[in-house]
Amino acid sequence: MKNIVILISGSGSNMAAIVRAAEQGRWADRLNARVAAVLSNRSDAQGLVFAQENGIATAVLNHKSFASREDFDAALIAEIDRHAPALLVLAGFMRILTPGFVAHYAGRLLNIHPSLLPAFPGLNTHQRAIDAGCRFAGATVHQVTAELDHGAILAQAVVPVLADDTAETLAERVLTQEHLIYPRAVAECLQSLSL
Ligand code: GAR
Repeated sequence: MKNIVILISGSGSNMAAIVRAAEQGRWADRLNARVAAVLSNRSDAQGLVFAQENGIATAVLNHKSFASREDFDAALIAEIDRHAPALLVLAGFMRILTPGFVAHYAGRLLNIHPSLLPAFPGLNTHQRAIDAGCRFAGATVHQVTAELDHGAILAQAVVPVLADDTAETLAERVLTQEHLIYPRAVAECLQSLSL
């Protein structure tokens, strides 16, 4: 069985979309894959509740309990690797990862970012797109490399920026699309993994 481990920091709606797609698309039968665990750096991440209700193992590692980024990432690797992941999926995981962490999961580490990369890496993507006068915004699923929000683009979704958009209304429109493209990209990756 190919295990998927998902890392979250907040509401976990992308994680939930992947879990639902796995159930509805019968990934266990069709792709020999399952969501094995959901891990978070925050104990108050709402997505943990959804994961637990769906019978998925969860764990919390508070980054503030570690002396350095390296120490936190080492502990995170140990926790993740208990589940022997074929694929590690970042879904709103709001931590910068060390190069050692990224190298450990090279080729099996995905992220979703709420902009049309390479435009607007980093934070506050929706406000920055509005401020720049963009007519279109969107989201990108990409492989993770040591450079923040870089790496091969696997999927994108485009939405219009409306004249009266705020960062919140634009984020909502983009998030709806994230829930479509991320599960699809994860399924495609699972298909291409020769495990
Ligand atoms: C999503 O919009 C995701 O693209 C973004 O955080 C949100 C998480 O929502 N990720 C980043 O900004 C990563 N730098 P969710 O917890 O409901 O999936």
